Amino acid sequence: MTEAPGAHGRLLAQLERRAGLRIDRGHEQRLARVLGQVAPEGGWRERFGSDAAFRSAVIDAVAIDESYFFRHHAQLEYLRDVVLPGLVAERPAGHRLQLWSAGCADGEEPYTLAVLLAEAGVADRADVLGTDVSPAAVERGRTARYSRWALRSRRAQDRSHLFDPDGGRFRLRAEVVASVDLRTHNLMDLPYPAPTAAPGFDVVLCRNVLLHLTPDALAVVVPRLVAALAAGGWLFTAPADPSPVAVPGTGPLDAVVLPTGGVVYRRPDTAPTARVPVATPFPVAAPPRPHPRRRRRRSVAARVATPRPAASMPPPPAADEDGPARCARARALLAAGRPAEALGHAMAAAFLSPDLAPAHLTLGLAAAATGRHAVAGRAFRRAAELFDAMAGDDVVELAEGETAGALADLARAHALLHLEGAT
Ligand SMILES: C[S@@+](CC[C@H](N)C(=O)[O-])C[C@H]1O[C@@H](n2cnc3c(N)ncnc32)[C@H](O)[C@@H]1O
Repeated sequence: MTEAPGAHGRLLAQLERRAGLRIDRGHEQRLARVLGQVAPEGGWRERFGSDAAFRSAVIDAVAIDESYFFRHHAQLEYLRDVVLPGLVAERPAGHRLQLWSAGCADGEEPYTLAVLLAEAGVADRADVLGTDVSPAAVERGRTARYSRWALRSRRAQDRSHLFDPDGGRFRLRAEVVASVDLRTHNLMDLPYPAPTAAPGFDVVLCRNVLLHLTPDALAVVVPRLVAALAAGGWLFTAPADPSPVAVPGTGPLDAVVLPTGGVVYRRPDTAPTARVPVATPFPVAAPPRPHPRRRRRRSVAARVATPRPAASMPPPPAADEDGPARCARARALLAAGRPAEALGHAMAAAFLSPDLAPAHLTLGLAAAATGRHAVAGRAFRRAAELFDAMAGDDVVELAEGETAGALADLARAHALLHLEGAT
């Protein structure tokens, strides 16, 4: 039996509805190839409903599970050095930190989290969950054998002792694997995973997932992700993802601009936990599953009592402060989560030093964080032009060691988002 004309398109439409994925030409080609291999005889829609192995192969064909260890390292370093110590200081004694990598691909991201927790000295008081819509990706994550490509970042190479060579691949050390719980979950479906030991997640990473979702799916998923956060919990999305604060129905969420320019989000401390997301009641949490593979590590209590570092704020500006000084002031305010105050200094910096690329990038970030999308779009485009005019590997002053090439990419990605946001 061969499949009727149009069946391929109907299967794609079904996938788009079920997983919320925007289907493009690349997906179609991959799916056609996989269908040719696993079910050339047809009957796809029926098998999708009844045959788990077939469903897994089809979902895997359209899921873009590209990931690597220590991706977006500036965010991760902020998580390790600022967010985790801050949460430890704020949460009650005995609280186990709850971290969730939503859309975790083959496990690179949740395993990276486990490594960061160990480096922050809090691995023995934290739980890490990774979920993905693709059962095949979750299964690959559980085997934890990776290609060199997944370890391509310098940060992963600096930690090569965590990976043992294994037949042309690299096997992640068993103690890291044992500290992470990987499960299949579709972000379009309720119930959402429940943290093992708390009313909500302290940290959710949902990076490079939202950009693949349809607008309808975003409106479903983003409010639920935010509702899954505990009060004071953090949401990390990737630079190329649509901003969660722009999604209708999302509850209060503060944008926090990182010293290196990216933005992450925090649910206000005062927001009640377990808010109801949009029209759909948030499900009662399933009883926590035991973690059979989890091992307790040695106590790190002595090392975890690090208070959140207070952002050091320069004194008020002198009348003769120049563009770079105003830019530094704006960046310090952004890093302290005070974008409205940063905006004035960033505008002054861009006015006083019109060719200073970091001033325009900072202005874009401050404007974006305060909802001034047209200003942000213009500033990001100017920043991209100015960074492009520099040598790509020049380390940029006022930007914590980032290169001009990386900052040009960042400015361009933001400019694209704010091109759409400005209309
Ligand atoms: C590009 S990867 C990102 C992996 C990792 N978060 C990162 O930033 O490197 C996107 C992942 O999102 C998953 N995904 C897409 N739609 C999903 C959905 N509806 N529910 C759960 N995961 C989904 C895909 O299967 C894929 O593994």
